[in-house]
Amino acid sequence: MSDYLSTAPYKGTRDFYPPEMRVRSWMFSVIEKTVVSFGFEKIDAPLIEPVEIYLAKTSEEIVNQQIYSFIDRGDRKVAIRPEMTPTVARMAAARIRDLPRPIRWYSLPNLWRYEKPGKGRLREHWQFNADIFGSADESLADLEIIQLALELFSAFGATENHYKIFINHRAVLNAVFEKILKIPGDKWANVSRIMDKKDKVSGEEFQSMLRGEGLGEIQIRELELYVNSGINYLINSSISGENCVKHLVETLEMTHEISGGKIVHYNPSVVRGFDYYTGIVFEIFDLHPENRRSLAGGGRYDNLVTAFTKDTVNAIGFGMGDVTFMDFLKNHGLIPDIQNHSQVYVAAFSEKNLRMNAIKISRLLRNAGFNVELSSGHKKLGKQFDEAHSKKIPIVVLQGETEAQKNTVIIKEMSTGAQQEVAMEELLATLKKTIS
Ligand code: HAM
Repeated sequence: MSDYLSTAPYKGTRDFYPPEMRVRSWMFSVIEKTVVSFGFEKIDAPLIEPVEIYLAKTSEEIVNQQIYSFIDRGDRKVAIRPEMTPTVARMAAARIRDLPRPIRWYSLPNLWRYEKPGKGRLREHWQFNADIFGSADESLADLEIIQLALELFSAFGATENHYKIFINHRAVLNAVFEKILKIPGDKWANVSRIMDKKDKVSGEEFQSMLRGEGLGEIQIRELELYVNSGINYLINSSISGENCVKHLVETLEMTHEISGGKIVHYNPSVVRGFDYYTGIVFEIFDLHPENRRSLAGGGRYDNLVTAFTKDTVNAIGFGMGDVTFMDFLKNHGLIPDIQNHSQVYVAAFSEKNLRMNAIKISRLLRNAGFNVELSSGHKKLGKQFDEAHSKKIPIVVLQGETEAQKNTVIIKEMSTGAQQEVAMEELLATLKKTIS
């Protein structure tokens, strides 16, 4: 056994060193800029919640297999949040009578799920969430959320060649189960879960899982027809007049129009594993063969707030995880070269007056809005240049004894090695020109 503790982070989690953190911050800043342009406001909440808030309506898989829960010292059963939606619903419910509607909230929480770590799946991930509560017109909110997802992807330069959004409707699914397939209500959740797995198993396995739920051959054939057909299956069916079907068809038409017809598609096998969804559900997929995991998912969940308050309020939202989204951006070459934020390195000499001058110059530059790193104090100037170079800082400013006497400074551009000596009063103006 080694004498030292392991430096590895806990299984399924990541350390973010500055290069990774820089990219993550950039990714979040693009996301935040876009969502704020839609009028959403940021929220946050504790990492720990009472476990009950997940028991009723979060997915069975999360509650039974993935939740990190423990008893605290006061004998309360608590959980580390595996998702943000119950917390967002709790917060909305707590102030539902006072908050101006619609409530448009976003958050960037880290979430914990006890997963088998693998490509695109970790135990801790960050998830962008955007949710709208209490819209006067729910179908407009559905469209707004999908439009937000589309705008987010285009803010990163993604196009129809990179991703697809698949839409379905929970109430339509239930109507198909009840009125066409005649499946008993207590089997709906299990049959939906099997449908969710359809693309991951063979045709025979799919059928045998359905048989396991008691479906007969005619029901299985009809269900296969339903999942393999387009929207016309519904338009030509006995449930075509139901409001949910009309709503789904209209949402598809409108989202087709918003996205130019190529990004948003109907997909009856998108069921989403969470029990709280009631209406439109959707999932976003990368078209790159290396990244088959879902990039984002969400839907309408009108009854979750009623777990916390007697007031009813409609809600729709989605979550997008940083792990698969980062893979998406990498695979499609959509990450720009993001450098260290430091713009100027101020060299320092060992004489007391020159060290003081270096500190004063740094302060002057910072006050003017530059990001400045002061030398760590190497005696040799060459080492200071190496330091600036290794940190990719583009400009070095220095003042030696000769310059101090003339009240000038030397500005060195690291990429070309070009140096110029300027009067102290011209330092800021020259740097602004050099850096812009
Ligand atoms: P979800 O489908 O569980 O939905 O997660 C949304 C996204 O988070 C996934 O598409 C995936 O990108 C990412 N994700 C989830 N689990 C992991 C994991 N273990 N490792 C890496 N990435 C992961 C929800 O959580 C819903 N609460 C979303 C929502 C918000 N619905 C309405 N509002």
